[in-house]
Amino acid sequence: MNENSTILRMRDITKTFGAVRALDGVSISVTRGSVHAICGENGAGKSTLMKVLSGVYPHGSFDGTIEFEDKEVEYRSINDSERDGIVIIHQELALSPYLSIAENIFLGNENAKRGVINWHETNLEAVKLLARVGLQENPATPVLELGVGKQQLVEIAKALSKRVKLLILDEPTAALNDEDSAHLLDLLRHLRDQGITSIIISHKLKEIRKIADTVTIIRDGATIESFEMTEPDATEARIIRSMVGRPLDNLFPPREPDIGEEYFRVENWNAYHPVDTARKVVDDASFSVRAGEIVGFAGLMGAGRTELAMSIFGRSYGRNISGKVFKQGKEIQTRTVEEAIRNGIAYATEDRKKYGLNLIGDITVNVSAAALGRLARLGVIDRNREYVTADRYREQMNIKAPSVASVVGKLSGGNQQKVVLSKWMFTGPDVLILDEPTRGIDVGAKYEIYGIINQLAAAGKAVIVISSELPELLGLADRIYTISQGRISGEVTRADATQELLMHYMTADKD
Ligand SMILES: Nc1ncnc2c1ncn2[C@@H]1O[C@H](COP(=O)(O)OP(=O)(O)OP(=O)(O)O)[C@@H](O)[C@H]1O
Ligand SMILES: [Mg+2]
Repeated sequence: MNENSTILRMRDITKTFGAVRALDGVSISVTRGSVHAICGENGAGKSTLMKVLSGVYPHGSFDGTIEFEDKEVEYRSINDSERDGIVIIHQELALSPYLSIAENIFLGNENAKRGVINWHETNLEAVKLLARVGLQENPATPVLELGVGKQQLVEIAKALSKRVKLLILDEPTAALNDEDSAHLLDLLRHLRDQGITSIIISHKLKEIRKIADTVTIIRDGATIESFEMTEPDATEARIIRSMVGRPLDNLFPPREPDIGEEYFRVENWNAYHPVDTARKVVDDASFSVRAGEIVGFAGLMGAGRTELAMSIFGRSYGRNISGKVFKQGKEIQTRTVEEAIRNGIAYATEDRKKYGLNLIGDITVNVSAAALGRLARLGVIDRNREYVTADRYREQMNIKAPSVASVVGKLSGGNQQKVVLSKWMFTGPDVLILDEPTRGIDVGAKYEIYGIINQLAAAGKAVIVISSELPELLGLADRIYTISQGRISGEVTRADATQELLMHYMTADKD
C-alpha cells in the first residue's frame, strides 16, 4: 500500500434542505493514515458534509461524487459506509445510557455474529477493545455511570470493533476537560500510527494545531482552502482568517469594567446527590457577585460547578439543599425555577439537548419559552411581539437560520447554543448564570457572545460564567472562584489570575 495515497475524495458536494443550501460545491481530499481537520464557522456545513459522507444523507439526496479507496461509492445508509470502514461519531453522543459498555459496543453491530450473542466471548472482546482505547472499566458497567470523556472512548472502541479505516469525530472534545481531551488526542495519534485515518471537526484551534496533519476550511458551504500544518504559515491566525473571512485581532472585545455594590450573595450553600443521598455534592459554598461584575467559576469536570448553579436555580439539582440567597442585601427564595426566574435569576444550561431547548419547536417558541409572562397582555400571548422579539435576537446573536420559523433541531450545533442564550437573555435577568456559554461556538461568534455578556455587566447586572476554558475566564472575568470537590477552594482577582494559579486551586484536595 502506498504510504501517501489518498483514501477519500469528495468532489463538488452540494446539499440543499428546501431553500437552505448547506453545501455548495465542497471538495475535500484526505490522505491515508493522516489526521485531517475540518474548520469553519457555526453553520458552515461541517456536520452536513460528514453526514453526506457516511450515508446519513443517502446517495441521490445530494450532488457530487465520493471516492473511497479509489472507487466511487454510493452509500444509501450508515450501514453501507460502515461496511467500508467509515465510522462517524456524532456531535451528540449516541450511546444507550442504561446498557452496559459491552452491550453498547456490540449491539446493532454488523460484525457481531447474527442471531445469538455469546456474552462471554463478547465481554472478552470488549476488554480487548477497551484496552486499545486505554479504558480500564468493567465491560458490564452501565454507560450512564461513565463521564463524557469515557463515553467518548467507548464510542471509539465501538468504532474499532467495526474495523474502522476512517474515523470521523464531530467536535469530540467539546464536552471534555483538558485531561480527557489530551487523552483523546493521544489516542488519535496512536490510531494514526496503526494506519487509521481520522477526520476531526473542532472549534478548538489549539487542539487542531496539536493534532492535525492537514486542515480544510469551509465557509458558507464552500471549500476556502486546504493546507498542511507543516507549512510555515499554517497558523491559528490563518485558520481564523479563512473561517471568518477577515482577520480577528482580538479574541475578546474591549471593556471598561464599572463595578458597583454587592448585588448577589449565596451563603453556606449545601446540596446532596439526588440518588446517592449521603453524598454531599455542594459543600458549604459562599460567594458573591457585585453589580456590573463578571465572575467566573473554574473547576475540573465533576467539581460541582453545574450542581452548585442548578441547585440554586430552582433546586433543579440535588436533595436536602440548604443555604441562603440574597439579592441587594435582601434574602430571596429560589425553590422552583419559576420562583428563581421571578426573582430575576436565569441559568443558561450547558446541556442544550436535555434542559435547554424544545428541538421540534421553532426559534420563536424557544426564545420566548422561559419568559411568556413578558409577552402576555391580559393573559393572552402577543404572537406578533413574540415574533419580533425572536427576530431581534436572531439578528443580535447572528443565528444562522432562514427565519425565526425554523425548527431548532435542524440548526447547526453552535446556532442551537445561541438560541439557548437568547432564551435566557429574554427573561431579563438581574443575575445571569451562564454554564459553558461558548461550548461548540466558533471563534467569531464567541467574540459576539462576549460582547453581549459585557453589555449585560455594563447594564449593572451580575454575571456568572462557568467555563472549562481557562483562557476564556481569564479574558472575560473580573474575579474567578475555583471549585474543587464541591467546595469553593479559591478566589482570584483578574489582576492575579494565571492558568497555573487557577489549576493549583482547582486541584486542591479537601482538608
Ligand atoms: N436537516 C436540516 N434541515 C434544514 N437545514 C439544515 C438541516 N441540517 C443542517 N441544516 C442547515 O445547514 C447548514 C449547515 O449546518 P451544519 O450542521 O452542517 O453546520 P456546522 O458547520 O456543523 O456548524 P456547527 O459548528 O454549529 O456545528 C446550517 O445552516 C443548518 O441550519
Ligand atoms: Mg456541526
